[in-house]
Parts: sequence; structure tokens; C-alpha cells
Amino acid sequence: MISLARDSIRAFDIIGDTALVEAATISEARKMAKKIMLQHKHIKSAWLKVGGHTGKLRIQKLKWVSGEKRTTTTHKENGILLKLDITKTYFSPRQATERKRVYGQVKKPEIILVMFSGIGPFTVSMAKNTPAAAVYGVELNKSAHKFAAENAKLNKVEGKIKLFCGDVRKIVPQLKQKFDRIIMPLPKEAESFLDVAFAAAKKGAVIHFYDFEKEEDIPSAAVAKAAAASTAAKKKIRILDVVKCGQLAPRAYRVCVDFKIV
Ligand SMILES: C[S@@+](CC[C@H](N)C(=O)[O-])C[C@H]1O[C@@H](n2cnc3c(N)ncnc32)[C@H](O)[C@@H]1O
Repeated sequence: MISLARDSIRAFDIIGDTALVEAATISEARKMAKKIMLQHKHIKSAWLKVGGHTGKLRIQKLKWVSGEKRTTTTHKENGILLKLDITKTYFSPRQATERKRVYGQVKKPEIILVMFSGIGPFTVSMAKNTPAAAVYGVELNKSAHKFAAENAKLNKVEGKIKLFCGDVRKIVPQLKQKFDRIIMPLPKEAESFLDVAFAAAKKGAVIHFYDFEKEEDIPSAAVAKAAAASTAAKKKIRILDVVKCGQLAPRAYRVCVDFKIV
């Protein structure tokens, strides 16, 4: 029997008016899609997730299941609108609560850097929902970068957001800007960009470093990575928090280490 209890088995995601389902076969996916569309009347199309997010751009391979074949949609989260193409860009609605946790910490007119900014969920929510003075976003995927610019306009915060398309390692040093807060939402690889973050951070800056860890290694492994990078950068840090913010596999989690440069 197929259960549609989203929070217990996480068998599907809803992005705007599309449903992305996890199923073993297309016919199972079709059955799930039918139930989802009955429960969520605004859903116009369903797609089967084929494998996980892959490659440098972290794109999810999808197979059309039912409904419209349109791949663009507009998603609402935390009071903002996000337009995207589900076949060309990374976006996970499961991170909405985590994004709220992070932007909830911004209480002053900070200058913020979002590395790996994608279609702009962090850049737009920071610009819209906080007193941030400026939010910089750097993203490699040209399509995601284009949507991030469109989303800044859609939410009327383009004046606060500066977007750059390219590799964080190359672009960030060229910005010649120091930041009060740096967000690093690329859990698979963020560790290898910690040196770039340290070089771009002001004294007193807060860094949100994302990582994937096995349950038994939380919090020590991710904290050790941040500590090793701080030693290499000859900077001292204070760990503020370590949070589990998503499940990758049984007993493996996405974690965020919040630390301050002291
Ligand atoms: C896990 S996604 C996160 C996207 C977005 N921050 C979000 O929360 O939806 C990681 C993003 O990093 C981008 N990326 C990967 N390597 C990069 C690099 N070296 N420089 C800039 N962006 C990169 C990918 O294209 C992808 O959009």
C-alpha cells in the first residue's frame, strides 16, 4: 500500500503546482500522482524522481508522469515567491524551515554572502524578511542564476540583491567585499570552500557551514572540519550551534554548523 503521509515517509515533494514523487516504477508513480492530485487540487503535473541530485549543478533527473508537461513553476515559501525550472535547477522545498532559522538570526543591516545561491531562496528571503543592507549571491548554473535575478524582481527586492554567475572560488575574491554573514548551502562540497569563506569574512562574522554526516559523527565531524579550516586560515572561531536540517539516508543527515569568527 502506498502511504501519502509526507512527513513520515517523505515520498513526494510539492514545488509550486508540481509534485515530484519517489516510486519504484512509473505505474506506482502514476497511482501516487492520482492520490496527490486528489488531495492537493492545485497540482497540475507529476514527475518521477530518477535517482538523487547529481553533478556539480545538483540537478535532479525527472521523468514526466501525468498532467501538464510544463517544467516551470512558481513556489511560495516564507512569504516569498520563487520561480524555477524543475529540470534545470536545484530547489528543495524541504529546506524552508532551515532557511527561516537562518534568516531569523539577521537583526541588523548586515552585508550577507550566499555562496551557491541557486534560484535565490536564501538571497530573496534574506532581502525580503530581514534588515540586511545587501545580499550577494554567487551561482554556477546559468539557468538558476537567471531565475534568481527574476525572483529578486518578482519579490521587489532587486535593489538589495547583487548576483554573480560563476564559480565561488573565482568570483568571491574578485568582489573585494567583506561580509558579516556567509551561507554555504552545498553540503557535499562546502568544506572545500571554507578557505574562501574565511578570506571574505569580517571579524565577528557568522558562517553557516552545511555538511552531510553519519548520525554517529554528529556533531564532531562537521565541527572538526570548521576547526581545521579556521586553523589553516589562522582565525579563531566559536561554535554557536550545530543543527540537523534534513535526512539524506537512514542514519545520515544534512547538518549546519553556525560559527562566529572571534
Ligand atoms: C544544494 S544547491 C543549493 C541551491 C540554493 N542555495 C538552495 O538552497 O536552493 C547547490 C548549488 O550550488 C551550485 N554550485 C555548485 N558548485 C558551485 C561553485 N563552485 N560555485 C558556485 N555555485 C556552485 C549548484 O549549481 C547548485 O545550484
